Amino acid sequence: MKSLVFAANWKMNQAPADAEAFMRTFTSQYSRQQQKRVLFFPPAVSLHVVVAAVRQRGDLETGVQNIHWEDKGAFTGEISATLARAAGARHVLVGHSERRHVFGESDEATGKKVAAAARAGLTPMICVGETLEEREAGETLAVVLRQLRAAVAGLEAAAVATLMVAYEPVWAIGTGMTATPQDAAEVHAALRKELIAITGERGRAVPILYGGSVNRSNVDALVSVEDVDGVLVGGASLDAEGWLAIVRS
Ligand code: PGA
Repeated sequence: MKSLVFAANWKMNQAPADAEAFMRTFTSQYSRQQQKRVLFFPPAVSLHVVVAAVRQRGDLETGVQNIHWEDKGAFTGEISATLARAAGARHVLVGHSERRHVFGESDEATGKKVAAAARAGLTPMICVGETLEEREAGETLAVVLRQLRAAVAGLEAAAVATLMVAYEPVWAIGTGMTATPQDAAEVHAALRKELIAITGERGRAVPILYGGSVNRSNVDALVSVEDVDGVLVGGASLDAEGWLAIVRS
C-alpha cells in the first residue's frame, strides 16, 4: 500500500471560528489511518486554530499558503518562513497557480521562496501546472519541468529529497474539469524522473500530489495512478464532512 498525502488548501476562506468548528468535527470523526498524512493550509489568520487542533495528532499537519523570501524586515503585509514556522506551520505552498497567474509570481520568486522555506525548516510543496493554452500547444511537460527546476535551483540535491510537489493543471483548478488519470500519469511520471535525476534514488520517495477539481467522486481514480501520491484539494476541502469523505477514500 502506498503512502498518501491529503492536503486541504482553504485559500481565502475559513475565519478562525469557522476553522475551529471544522477542526472540531474533523478531529472527532477522523482517526489515524496507516500510511495517510492529512495537511491543512488555512489562511494565516486561522493558522493558530489549526495548529492547536493538530497538536496531539502526529498524522495531521499544517502549513501556510504563501511566504515572502526574506527572513524579516520592512515588507508590509508579508509573512516570512521564520514567522510562519514560529507560529507553528510545518509546510508551505509555493508557486500555487493563483500566486503565479493572479499575483504575477515568477519562477525566480518561487525559487527564492523555496530556499527561504528550507532555511527556516518549513517543507515546501512546490506547485506546478500548465495553462490550457500551453497544453494545447503541446508544452505541458516542458512547462512543469521548467517550473520544478526553477523552484529547486537554490537547493542542495539532498534538500530536494525532503520536499513535496503538486501537479495542478491551471485549467483544472476550480473549474470542475479534472485531468484524466492518463494525463496525470504522464505528467507525474515526468516529474518523478526529474526528481530522480536531481536527487538520485531518494527522488522516488518525494510525494507528488495531484490537484485541480478533486472531489469525493474522482479521488479514488486519481490516487490509484502510479506516482500520484495524494491530492491537493481546494473547494472540496471546505466542508468537514466532504473532506472526511475524501481522506477516507
Ligand atoms: P480546487 O483547487 O480543488 O478548488 O480546484 C485546488 C487548488 O487550487 O489547490
